[in-house]
Amino acid sequence: MRIALGVTGGVAAYKAAELVRRLQQEAFDVEVLMTRGAEEFVRPLTFAALTGHKVIGAMFAEGSSRQANVESAIEHIAVAQRIDLLLVAPATADVLAKFAAGIADDFLTTLYLATKAPVVVAPAMNVNMWEHRATQENVARLRSRGVCVVAPDEGYLACGMTGAGRLAGHDAILQAVREALDLRRDLSGETVLVTAGPTCEDIDPVRFLTNRSSGRMGYAVAEAAMSRGAEVVLVSGPTALAPPPGLTFVPVRSAEQMRRAVNAHLDSATIVIMAAAVADYRPTLRHPHKVKRGAPSLTLELELSPDILAEIGPRKEDRVVVGFAAETERLADHARRKLKAKPVDLVVANDVSRCDAGFDVDTNVVTFFSRDGSETELPRLTKREVAERILDEVLRLKSRTAHERKNAR
Ligand code: CTP
Repeated sequence: MRIALGVTGGVAAYKAAELVRRLQQEAFDVEVLMTRGAEEFVRPLTFAALTGHKVIGAMFAEGSSRQANVESAIEHIAVAQRIDLLLVAPATADVLAKFAAGIADDFLTTLYLATKAPVVVAPAMNVNMWEHRATQENVARLRSRGVCVVAPDEGYLACGMTGAGRLAGHDAILQAVREALDLRRDLSGETVLVTAGPTCEDIDPVRFLTNRSSGRMGYAVAEAAMSRGAEVVLVSGPTALAPPPGLTFVPVRSAEQMRRAVNAHLDSATIVIMAAAVADYRPTLRHPHKVKRGAPSLTLELELSPDILAEIGPRKEDRVVVGFAAETERLADHARRKLKAKPVDLVVANDVSRCDAGFDVDTNVVTFFSRDGSETELPRLTKREVAERILDEVLRLKSRTAHERKNAR
């Protein structure tokens, strides 16, 4: 999920850097906008380095060209549409007043008017400014419009006074963000081990066997699990995707490396989701030097690679294990067979021959085949939505197992 974090000009602006980290740990993709005042306190470079995105500054900068101004105006509409939430922390008395009055004279205030996403503001200022009727009236007005205002803490203020005005703690701000987004934390206490992407099996130092997996499904599962409160270990074959911040990322290349990484992290995992497209076969021999052109034909001998999912069997215990089945024909037959043959509680099957499912697209069409016999065909959904539904099903199976165990006693 994407959050635009507006940083306005106050001493507490430095605290926004730590806030970015905390948001990233919950799998949010954070983009920072700074007012001109904020740039007096913290350099935009700090936020650019932390977020990996360019920091959006004051709109219509003095002396900028008409072209630049038009681009800037278009950009704020694009930001307004792509974000899931606008958070302003710290929010000055000035920005609260502008939001309340609907004044749009820079990027942040324009974004506030242009977005339909929920808005959370965390004010920080001198105690007298906070308690002033003007500010309190503005806050009441914003609240009446549905803006979530995270009240400042009491304490020693930068101006030397003591009272309400300190930026609220990061925990309180994060809680407000989760509530505004109606996010569940139903996986807190769980450790989810996810495999994703393809594997690459080397033929020689420059050539390898691989497949069309982009890794998007597995990364979506990892991000969804993290935002629902789980600790996540993501074991990933080579992909073009950036590792999501806030999780334990284990990059691997071959099936053998993936097997070792899964074995190393299995003990701590309570849920295992194997979304990787592991090569079933690998070259029997890896040539130490590049194979030269010459022979009129070449035979590549392949051997079975380790079946990582099958190997979990003896160590499965109470873990909920999810396997994927990428099929091009007789989907249900293959998926039911896999459910019996492998140590899995849930098989997520998709027909990769469809153009709106499977490799390199943002959507997926899957059917769940669960250990308890239920079969659920889902409509066409984004991979993130599929990820959420997989996690819902994992929790359902987990509570069913707990219930059965209790009854058996
Ligand atoms: N898998 C694995 N190790 C392998 C092959 C597959 O862990 N060497 C996992 C995949 O991550 C996936 C599941 O097993 O979750 C099913 O993979 P798939 O290739 O669809 O099934 P196979 O068991 O290989 O069966 P088939 O080749 O008949 O499709």
